[in-house]
Amino acid sequence: MTVTLRASAQVGIVGAGPAGLVAAAVLARAGVDVCLLERDSRQDVEARARAGLIEHRVAEYLQDHGLAAGLLADGVRHGFCDMVCEGRRTRIDYAALSGGFTHRVYPQQALVRDLIAQARTAGCPPRFGRPVRAVTDTAGRPRLIGDGLEVVCDYVLCCDGPHTLAESLAPGTARAFRYPYDWLTALVTVDRPVEAVLYAVHADGFAGLMPRTGDRARLYLQVPREDRAGRWTPDGIRAAFRTRTGGPVADDLPAVGEILDVGMLRMRGMVRDRARLGRVLLAGDAAHVLTPSGAKGLNLAVADAADAARGLLARLRDRSGADLAGYARRRAAEAWQTQEFSDRLLTLLHLPEAAGPDPRFLLRLRRERIRHLGRPGPRAAAFAHWYAGSGRDPDPRGPVGVLRAEDG
Ligand code: APR
Repeated sequence: MTVTLRASAQVGIVGAGPAGLVAAAVLARAGVDVCLLERDSRQDVEARARAGLIEHRVAEYLQDHGLAAGLLADGVRHGFCDMVCEGRRTRIDYAALSGGFTHRVYPQQALVRDLIAQARTAGCPPRFGRPVRAVTDTAGRPRLIGDGLEVVCDYVLCCDGPHTLAESLAPGTARAFRYPYDWLTALVTVDRPVEAVLYAVHADGFAGLMPRTGDRARLYLQVPREDRAGRWTPDGIRAAFRTRTGGPVADDLPAVGEILDVGMLRMRGMVRDRARLGRVLLAGDAAHVLTPSGAKGLNLAVADAADAARGLLARLRDRSGADLAGYARRRAAEAWQTQEFSDRLLTLLHLPEAAGPDPRFLLRLRRERIRHLGRPGPRAAAFAHWYAGSGRDPDPRGPVGVLRAEDG
């Protein structure tokens, strides 16, 4: 039976993904009265295996806010990635190229488990199994309405994913793009840990391998749009991966063993024009969706949450509205810069639809672009800073400058 919940809170948060949990934990630790409502059960939320590459600036932010104990203990540092094209591997030592910035490999579900524990300790236990059906009264104090549920808030933070309730408050404000291909994604066992993220460009399509914990890794294959996972056998996946990472390089890679779980990632990008509607703020996938290229979705979700928490704290504690006033502008700017980076990386890693029967020219061109990213210089440095999430950009042209110059 659903117990009726009538409450008030300074900040009501919808959704206990990374964005909602970071905002809840930071605000609650600072003494703000937060109510976090999550549709699904705790078990389901803690079992969602998704991203796993934590940017430098995100790790630093979590550490500064006392939320990184698990991440620092178990998150393995990674500072280089490999790009393979025409059987040649280029190592991109982005730690060296950026002056020491690295990722931590830490599964999203572990981070989510840590954050749930931190939010509880801070006095804000997420309320699971509590779907919010609507956000009302947005002109005054917004209300979160659900079955047997009504929470009156000073501010609401929608962290409820791409199908956000906020869509009904400002319909039609999302700009979206569907890429002409999808990615098959599989959790696989490997005979030794994956030491670097691997990206392979091939005439048959892109292939990738991302480290996870121990003997697990995530494998990606470019597939035709709307392809079905059921069409792929484990042997077919292993064979395609081997061909695309081809040549002598393949012998050097960890061997892919069991295929544990296969799914399809529909490749699309989306940004909503407004990340703030009066007293309702949007963060994470509610505000933008990124393709997995460059592993930016989780990191941008945390960056949004950090920005929102800072603005809300300034507003509620110090009565200063300056930070909150710039929220929508800052989030839109960063969302578009990040989309730009992910899109440029996708362009590098996939041949265009119109590649024609002889793709050798386009493959060689990509090898040339990859070579530039691996060699010290302004292009490589800008790529390295963006990729690792250093939090600062040495090149005012940013990722646009890095890859646009090479866009043939
Ligand atoms: N009421 C309550 N909770 C809801 C509702 C609702 N109406 N609708 C959705 N939710 C919950 C979902 O069950 C989910 O737990 O909101 C949460 C949204 O979490 P995520 O989808 O993980 O979104 P976010 O926190 O923005 O993190 C996004 O993390 O997985 C990575 O790269 C991925 O970009 C993605 C990022």
